[in-house]
Amino acid sequence: MSPLLSLCVFWLLPLVLMLQEHPPLDHGPRRSVPYGDNAHLFREEGVFNYSTMLLREDLDLLVLGAREAVYALDLNDISKKLASVKWEVTQQQKRECKNKGKDPEVECKNYIRILHKMKDNRMYVCGTNAFDPVCDYMSYADGKLTLQKKGEDGKGKCPFDPFQKYASIMVDNDLYSATSMNFLGSEPVLMRSSPVSIRTEFKSSWLNEPNFISMAQMSESKDNEVGDDDKVYLFFSETAVECDCYNKLVVSRVARVCKGDLGGQRTLQKKWTSFLKARIDCPVLESQLPHVIQDSYRWCDPQQNWKTCLFYAIFTPQSDTVGLSAVCAYRVSDISRVFAEGKYKTPVPVETSFVKWVMYSGEVPVPRPGACINNQAHKVGITQTLDLPDRTLQFIKDRPLMDQAIQPIGEKPLLVHRGATFTRIIVSKVQAADGEKYHVMYIGTEEGTVLKAVNYDGEMFIIEEIQLFQPPKPIKILKISDVTGQLYAGSDYGAAQIPLATCERSLSCVDCVLARDPYCGWDRVVGKCVSLSNSSRDLIQSVKEGNATLCPDTDPVKPMNCSIWPGGNLKLSCPSPSNLAQIRWQLDSHPLIPSARFQLQKDGLLIFNASDSDAGRYRCQSVERSKTDEYTETVAVYHVRIAPAGSGKSGQTSSQTQEGPSIVGLQAAVGLLVVALLALLAWNFYKGHLPLPCGKNNGGQPYEERGLNSHITYQEAGRPAEDKPLVSGRDSSSNNNHARAEAASNNAEENNAPKVNLPSLQYIDDESEI
Ligand SMILES: *[C@@H]1O[C@H](CO)[C@@H](O)[C@H](O)[C@H]1NC(C)=O
Ligand SMILES: *[C@@H]1O[C@H](CO)[C@@H](O)[C@H](O)[C@H]1NC(C)=O
Ligand SMILES: *[C@@H]1O[C@H](CO)[C@@H](O)[C@H](O)[C@H]1NC(C)=O
Ligand SMILES: *[C@@H]1O[C@H](CO)[C@@H](O)[C@H](O)[C@H]1NC(C)=O
Ligand SMILES: *[C@@H]1O[C@H](CO)[C@@H](O)[C@H](O)[C@H]1NC(C)=O
Repeated sequence: MSPLLSLCVFWLLPLVLMLQEHPPLDHGPRRSVPYGDNAHLFREEGVFNYSTMLLREDLDLLVLGAREAVYALDLNDISKKLASVKWEVTQQQKRECKNKGKDPEVECKNYIRILHKMKDNRMYVCGTNAFDPVCDYMSYADGKLTLQKKGEDGKGKCPFDPFQKYASIMVDNDLYSATSMNFLGSEPVLMRSSPVSIRTEFKSSWLNEPNFISMAQMSESKDNEVGDDDKVYLFFSETAVECDCYNKLVVSRVARVCKGDLGGQRTLQKKWTSFLKARIDCPVLESQLPHVIQDSYRWCDPQQNWKTCLFYAIFTPQSDTVGLSAVCAYRVSDISRVFAEGKYKTPVPVETSFVKWVMYSGEVPVPRPGACINNQAHKVGITQTLDLPDRTLQFIKDRPLMDQAIQPIGEKPLLVHRGATFTRIIVSKVQAADGEKYHVMYIGTEEGTVLKAVNYDGEMFIIEEIQLFQPPKPIKILKISDVTGQLYAGSDYGAAQIPLATCERSLSCVDCVLARDPYCGWDRVVGKCVSLSNSSRDLIQSVKEGNATLCPDTDPVKPMNCSIWPGGNLKLSCPSPSNLAQIRWQLDSHPLIPSARFQLQKDGLLIFNASDSDAGRYRCQSVERSKTDEYTETVAVYHVRIAPAGSGKSGQTSSQTQEGPSIVGLQAAVGLLVVALLALLAWNFYKGHLPLPCGKNNGGQPYEERGLNSHITYQEAGRPAEDKPLVSGRDSSSNNNHARAEAASNNAEENNAPKVNLPSLQYIDDESEI
């Protein structure tokens, strides 16, 4: 780290000291769900960048904005396209864009960036339009999407540059937007487009090279004792002005403006008089530089006062070395208090050209700078911001930054995660069987996965990580519909939809309970893990403790028969239902000690160079600890038999056509060939290149090689189907994408698996054939 950084330490120190405790580094998702499991996907050939979404629950639609196109999809199944409309740039626009030095095939296209519902049920839509943003009105009627071709100027509403971050929200038909106003992207603005448009002052103390993240509305005027106004909050990151570092330091901010702001009369004419901002912290102990905000989500209980609303935000490191993403939650009331009562920061010149920002301790003018027009202002005859005195306005023009930073709830992150970098967050509330309501977070990552996580009294639990996109592409947007109970995600390559709850992934009661998913419980009557909202029966669930004591005993697992020739290799499959479980193997009721010949893998056991003593009953158990107890479940049982060396003829099977190299009467040439192949194959097996599978349900090790590092993949948890005489060297790294489908529909002919027909390496599945 640069020694210059030490200059910053004074500034970060209080932050670090506050944290005596280690942040709650998570232990990874309990379950990893492979691509394609339970998802509906939408993508259209040749169309990219599906990154804008609007839920129209009133029309049963998901409106999806992509590059040069908008789609109306069935909200219940987004793979059904109901309508679409193209919005392409003209050749003329493309040429002009190209002449300004932009890439004609990438930047000189129309990226849909804004999609909002208007009061009259139409939609407002804006696109980058080859670096010349425009907006339009769009309607959906008679199964058709129609653009009205109004061609409204999109400057300040929609970015010019499709790669630039932006934020927008529609409040009472007024568009609030945070983006760059000019071609170069150098003039950032927070703007309200209304009959009187209001925007930010162009000053580095207001916005300093910002990255806009998200916006949210807060109805703070409701039941407000001081007569406060509604507000619009903006989350962004920017280069800190207040840190006297020589290096650029990026900080996260929350700013807010009042809905009723009309600007000042002389000072701050048509500019916000209520723009206040503060730093927000999400202190990650491992990181010397502050983490940077990437997304935030406003969570409110519609039945309760705005003061109970929360903001969930995700943060990532500003230098790549740490690799930890974090989630912090903030109370709106805490943020509101800092703006309403906190001290301001003020710039003071020290030395010649150097400005230091310190706490302002002088007199603060009345009405309070940056405050909305409230009862107090009304009392002194100020009914609108146009009436505000110059003293108040000049103060806020020079000092929009609060001195105090906003701390997360508990003054530490809810979750610190090592793994794929976080990109998006959305939160849903669900009532569990214990009557409590839990916030379930869905977090999108750079790797195209979504983490589903819940905080149980300070303990963070990641229920699962779901691979939504393959190839892994960053999640660019997440939406939840409480009407359909579905989660919608967008990426550059397509959009995906999954249910908020997929209880049927748990096949046993213990798995269902240890999953600690507040949506799911075990139904004793039908013997299934079902959704709470779908069941009127009393279900077994224990989200806080993971107490599976009430689970009924399970039926014994049906053993499978395997046979192997002496010296051969064998793989016994045992897919663990949980990444948090340990797998134990027993041979004839004695613990099996791993060795060079018995290798434990994530999804099974490899036996090399089998000998007579290896015959017996192999039992694979998954042992998972919860807060309450340790639970042991048998996943698979195998009867392994060693075929007598050199005995009889090899296993003739229905799916395998054997050349039938009987021991007797083999031609010398054939014998040599077999020996050579055998040696080659034996070496391959020995090297672990071609593990020999036993049982059907080792349909590959789905994406262990694809970046869900070190976590085991969920599969149809060890319900070994009927055994199968397959002598196939499966390449474990290929053809893994459809593990579930494969496990379910496995038949003797596995498509891509190269078959090797070699008598002496074949294991025999049926005793009768020996
Ligand atoms: C649009 O999608 C393409 C294809 O994945 C990607 O290369 C490009 O970066 C995306 N553009 C934007 C602005 O996200
Ligand atoms: C609820 O039950 C019905 C019928 O048993 C089933 O079709 C549906 O998928 C279930 N919904 C959820 C959310 O589990
Ligand atoms: C395994 O072999 C035993 C006899 O040794 C037989 O009774 C049993 O049915 C076989 N199991 C399967 C699944 O084929
Ligand atoms: C296989 O085991 C036998 C003894 O059981 C041993 O003689 C032989 O060297 C082993 N082969 C390999 C390749 O380890
Ligand atoms: C687990 O649940 C059972 C049944 O409800 C209860 O008797 C037991 O005390 C619980 N165990 C713990 C450690 O809470």
